[in-house]
Amino acid sequence: MPAIVVLGAQWGDEGKGKITDLLAREADAVVRYQGGHNAGHTVQVGESQYKLHLVPSGVFHKGTICLLGNGMVIDLPALVREIDGLEASGVDTSRLYISNAAHLILPYHQVLDAKDEDSRGADHIGTTRRGIGPAYSDKVNRLGIRMGDLKNEKRFRELLEANRRNKEGSLASVALDWDAMARDYLGCYQRLADRVIDVGHRVSSLIRAGAKVLLEGAQGTFLDLDHGTYPFVTSSNPTAGGACVGTGIGPTLIDGVLGVVKAYTTRVGAGPFPTELTDRLGDLLVDRGHEFGTTTGRRRRCGWLDTFMLRYAARINGLSSLAITKLDVLDSLDPIQVCSGYEVDGELLDSYPEDLATLRRVVPRYESFAGWKSSTSQVREYGQLPPLARTYLDGISRLTGVSVSLVSVGPDRSATMVTADPWRVR
Ligand code: IMP
Repeated sequence: MPAIVVLGAQWGDEGKGKITDLLAREADAVVRYQGGHNAGHTVQVGESQYKLHLVPSGVFHKGTICLLGNGMVIDLPALVREIDGLEASGVDTSRLYISNAAHLILPYHQVLDAKDEDSRGADHIGTTRRGIGPAYSDKVNRLGIRMGDLKNEKRFRELLEANRRNKEGSLASVALDWDAMARDYLGCYQRLADRVIDVGHRVSSLIRAGAKVLLEGAQGTFLDLDHGTYPFVTSSNPTAGGACVGTGIGPTLIDGVLGVVKAYTTRVGAGPFPTELTDRLGDLLVDRGHEFGTTTGRRRRCGWLDTFMLRYAARINGLSSLAITKLDVLDSLDPIQVCSGYEVDGELLDSYPEDLATLRRVVPRYESFAGWKSSTSQVREYGQLPPLARTYLDGISRLTGVSVSLVSVGPDRSATMVTADPWRVR
């Protein structure tokens, strides 16, 4: 039985939460493989809307196991608050497990994140200030503290002390109560201790036993530390390769990669965005698409769909199919532009530029599509979509070289059309 990766093919906020929730209906397990509570997934279940930051979107399905992989960085008090909030709304979280090897975000990481951002001045990254970068820095620097370290109080306190000494200089002007921090984290750990497990072992056993497993990425391809628009990226690997490293399974256990794509493009935070619309059309997309960050409430920058970046996402991730979300946001627009390539000094580039200097100079080349100028939000059958909307979707497939398996026209679970089973598309 298959294991598939669901990931963002743009700069995050593509609607992965909704798509994961939908696929999780059939999944035995959903595993988050990177990032932390910088992510924000909005899931609509009937009349209720939930905002998830750490817990995988499979939590709303009875029987689906949810796991937080070793590739994640976890703010433990934030995780406990999220679990408590879900439980208070009647959502059962008892099938949630956390990797022994996931790294912890501690309060000093958040202080350092804010200090780093402030010291960059005009060149700031626009991080969520949740401590993500500094926690991953400590991991790479072999100073990180992992979930499993909380099992042994003495060991945990020693590691905390090592970090206090290491950061004495950078935290000199900040008053932090290290003992209260230790007690807080040890207390949170006591609540979750029986859920802290070897996630890689569990996931590979599940797959080998025939379970259907969804590997859920947060953020998106162009925020990937290695393959995104560096340095305007997050500090983890949301791309498909991250799914193996961040869960502890090998690539031969993965059967397919579903790329979630918004029908236009958005970005939060700083960094290049070739198809950005800074005029009233951009404002229209913000209004129609409710483009404000789930985690920070920041207004998202909006622009036309960029299939040149999607071709790169298809290559980096080995995408098997696309899930197109928020098609309905384009209902009133005519014409609709789609970027099909980048020019630099009048020459078309043959692949996505890896360096920022080139990316800042590119001029997008557009293909124009006629708008369908009618509402799609109530459409539930692909064949019932306006012909021009189908032409737009066909255009995305043609320009990216990847087929479309899902189309979403609204936040509700039912507002999704499946044209090919993503569990089976290779
Ligand atoms: P960090 O992940 O907080 O370090 O932020 C680094 C960059 O990633 C910033 O541009 C953030 O706005 C962006 N980012 C982080 N998480 C998300 C997300 O879930 N959706 C969209 N952008 C994100």
